[in-house]
Amino acid sequence: MTQPKTWSDRFESALHPAIARFNASIGFDIELIEYDITGSIAHAKMLAHTGIISKEEAMQLVTGLEQIRIEYREGHFNPGIEAEDVHFAVERRLTELVGDVGKKLHTARSRNDQVGTDIRLYLRDQITEIRQQLREYQGVLLRHAEKHVETLIPGYTHLQRAQPLSLAHHLLAYFQMAQRDWERLGEIYKRTNISPLGSGALAGTTFPIDRHFTASELEFGGVYANSLDGVSDRDFAIEFLCASSLIMVHLSRLSEELILWASQEFGFITLKDNCSTGSSIMPQKKNPDIPELVRGKTGRVFGHLQALLTIMKGLPLAYNKDLQEDKEGIFDSVKTVQGSLEAMTILLREGLEFRTERLSTAVEEDFSNATDVADYLAAKGVPFREAYNLVGKVVKTSLAAGKLLKDLTLEEWQALHPAFAEDIYQAIAPRQVVAARNSYGGTGFEQVRNAIESAKTQLL
Ligand code: ARG
Repeated sequence: MTQPKTWSDRFESALHPAIARFNASIGFDIELIEYDITGSIAHAKMLAHTGIISKEEAMQLVTGLEQIRIEYREGHFNPGIEAEDVHFAVERRLTELVGDVGKKLHTARSRNDQVGTDIRLYLRDQITEIRQQLREYQGVLLRHAEKHVETLIPGYTHLQRAQPLSLAHHLLAYFQMAQRDWERLGEIYKRTNISPLGSGALAGTTFPIDRHFTASELEFGGVYANSLDGVSDRDFAIEFLCASSLIMVHLSRLSEELILWASQEFGFITLKDNCSTGSSIMPQKKNPDIPELVRGKTGRVFGHLQALLTIMKGLPLAYNKDLQEDKEGIFDSVKTVQGSLEAMTILLREGLEFRTERLSTAVEEDFSNATDVADYLAAKGVPFREAYNLVGKVVKTSLAAGKLLKDLTLEEWQALHPAFAEDIYQAIAPRQVVAARNSYGGTGFEQVRNAIESAKTQLL
């Protein structure tokens, strides 16, 4: 098909077909079409409001634009490569629908402020959606936490058994990460919600436009103070990709734990059939594909952040076509974060079970109460470092004898240090070990119950 000529009469021929394909963004920026239409409607109304076009003309434009929205929703509007991008596609279709008045829409506007407006409107909605998803994910974590205050789970540092924990405490750590993600996106929303519309190509416009009118029509919180900055700023998008990367980091860390916990070696959770997959050859297998995919998808979001930073770093003011490269990374990150949050929320809500019996035996089988023996002696006046060394020796001899601390007789304890008494057994029982860590923010049951109450208020 021959390309129609897009540009002014300065151009004598159309683009080479391969160059047209290379140049076009319609293949992906069609995603923005409804925002483009909404932005154009606000612009048309402003043009009438300021007397730049007549009220009747504006009405025709708005009707035509709404018509395109319907055509798109019904699947009848599928512009091809000849349209170049979504902005041209809409403008052309508008002129087909309403005639020459359609050509007035682009008065006092450039695709540069237009695309900036579209991407902000789009991202604003996506941020709202992701924040809502974070709330659901937090809600599921909180419900598990409420059920599992007194379920114990081994706590690790260096992936070595360290000290036992309340399972609720462990889950609430992820709740708090999500809380920061939610707050961070709230901040980014404010900086995304600024209107560049009316910045023109770069310098503003000769027409008596009203930027505050379009901003308020589109429910922006403010307008860019500088037209050059307005058309070329993508800080908000970088911030969004940064926040998205952190969300993925948090989901990926939880994924990693779920994968470990589902293994035979840990055996802390069982994956249900609705959220796990089999092997095509090993019939005994049940694989944690969902958390593995979340963990695996994390890298692409990091990649999009890196790409946009790189796109921006050498750009002279103001608009440069490099900026067209912002979109695919943003769209893909939005889909990745939304898809991952949805999958993790479902997995947590209905795709797994904690093996509480296995968890309670797990915390009985190790030396993760060793710190408590040292604390016990320290509380009786033995200097902590001395107590620490002594307990190290106890662990060593117990290991050699194939015993755990709870298996030592009172005589054996007292031979180690006369300060040991009958209450040592109570002090090293895992439940007591957890309960005793009652410092603010610690895993003690009382602290965890308080943490659950304040988490509930965070969700309000
Ligand atoms: N498709 C372009 C983009 O996504 C729209 C803006 C084009 N502006 C320009 N002056 N070529 O960035």
